[in-house]
Amino acid sequence: MHDRTKTLFIETVGCQMNVLDSELVVGSLRRQGYELVHEPTAADVILFTTCSVREHAEEKTYSALGRLAPHKKANPDTVIGVLGCMAQKDQEEVRRRAPHVDMVVGTGQLARVPELVAEVQRTRVPQYALSLGRSDGGKQSVTASFESFDPPRDASMRPTPFQAFVRIQIGCDKFCTYCVVPTTRGPEQSRHPDHLLAECRQLANEGCKEVTLIGQTVNSYAFDHGDGRRTRLSDLISRIHDIESIERIKFVTNFPKDMTNDLLDAVRELPKAVKYLHVPVQSGCDEVLKRMKRQYSIDSYREMLYRCRERVPGVAISSDFIVGFCGESEESFGKTMDLVREAKFKNSFIFKYSTRPGTKADDLYPDDIPEEVKKRRNNDLLQVQNANCLEDHKSRIGHTVEVLVEGPSKVGERQPPGLRQMIGRTMTDHIVVFDGHDRLVGRTLSAKVKEASPFTLFGDVKTGEIASGDLVAREAEPVRRVGLTII
Ligand code: 5AD
Ligand code: SF4
Repeated sequence: MHDRTKTLFIETVGCQMNVLDSELVVGSLRRQGYELVHEPTAADVILFTTCSVREHAEEKTYSALGRLAPHKKANPDTVIGVLGCMAQKDQEEVRRRAPHVDMVVGTGQLARVPELVAEVQRTRVPQYALSLGRSDGGKQSVTASFESFDPPRDASMRPTPFQAFVRIQIGCDKFCTYCVVPTTRGPEQSRHPDHLLAECRQLANEGCKEVTLIGQTVNSYAFDHGDGRRTRLSDLISRIHDIESIERIKFVTNFPKDMTNDLLDAVRELPKAVKYLHVPVQSGCDEVLKRMKRQYSIDSYREMLYRCRERVPGVAISSDFIVGFCGESEESFGKTMDLVREAKFKNSFIFKYSTRPGTKADDLYPDDIPEEVKKRRNNDLLQVQNANCLEDHKSRIGHTVEVLVEGPSKVGERQPPGLRQMIGRTMTDHIVVFDGHDRLVGRTLSAKVKEASPFTLFGDVKTGEIASGDLVAREAEPVRRVGLTII
């Protein structure tokens, strides 16, 4: 008897952790014979990798689930699963608001997805797999209930074959008052460096050239071997650096207080280390930072910026901001504007504060900044940042930069394959677009910057590099996206 192929649809909302979780879940289901489809209604199994960091992200998932209710009614054999942060945080609410969901699987239980899908199909009984809440047990048992999910990769599921995320740490112990992550992803745990090295070697063997090490506070990575030895992020990067075919090593996201000199020295000294640091500050006002429980003052953040730039000449630094946090006065916000004017971030990711039930901020402080004020502050800050971006980009006109070619740009995707607009990134994580052949995907080449907008550098690659016969004659893999929505 020949079964028809089983089909899977997955939608991903949120951060790089979620992108990686989806990639790995898809990989594990493909090994069970599932094929990815691009329409939920064409799938036997429909999964949502969810984000809880802002309310908007959750509402997006609830709307998508709501739209699927009639489909599920007409096709009761379809399995619908909610994975990740929202699952871990709000299992009861998911059950209540979307009773047609068959599976709720937390961030620390994703290894069980194939088994749970099979169980739903066999029994038609909803399945729940969740880790303990942060106060539901002793530290050890809570920690043990969150397992890092990092099975062998399915190279074809990566956004491009030559780039990969590597999770070096799970969870977070910082407990910023506005943030759900310590609840949704559990206690901070660093993975064993030997396992990470093995993962990077395997990725390199499969053709991966760039690894991005990910963790919520990636620079607090530390693995204690139990015999007095400790592996820090700087040590890990230098070990990965020895893998010959890895060309670039990035890491995100950094916590300001944990930006140690050994790490900055490693970034400077190791040629493969990308000269880019994402170090969210969140606000330019000490009182706000205190209410956010960020554990640093603006003076110490400024000192850290200075140290980064002194120790890693030419480094690009980016940041995140929350505007309209509880009690943020015009004066407080003015301090954030001043910081952005002066700090010259490569870019800033700006978010309007979204109150999150269960967080300290939600308990302690009223969400007292009206939505229009949040919007205005968001726009004002963005304007200052965009002006800085343009200035930074313009200063690069005429320079030659090393670009790792990622694939066709948005414009290029609408052009026929062959010679079209391509997109790549420099060693300082700047985006460059240029006309090039699909064969260049995955190659590192020199581009001369000829024009600049606030968001993009426009470059020229040498004609030889566009059409050179010594290139490996392989067509670019199509860029595969696992139903990703960045919010
Ligand atoms: N509201 C708005 N933005 C938030 N972030 C985290 N929690 C919230 C929240 N409750 C932002 C922070 C963080 C980024 C990933 O999301 O800026 O760095
Ligand atoms: Fe959230 Fe703060 Fe941890 Fe970042 S460091 S994940 S903002 S609690």
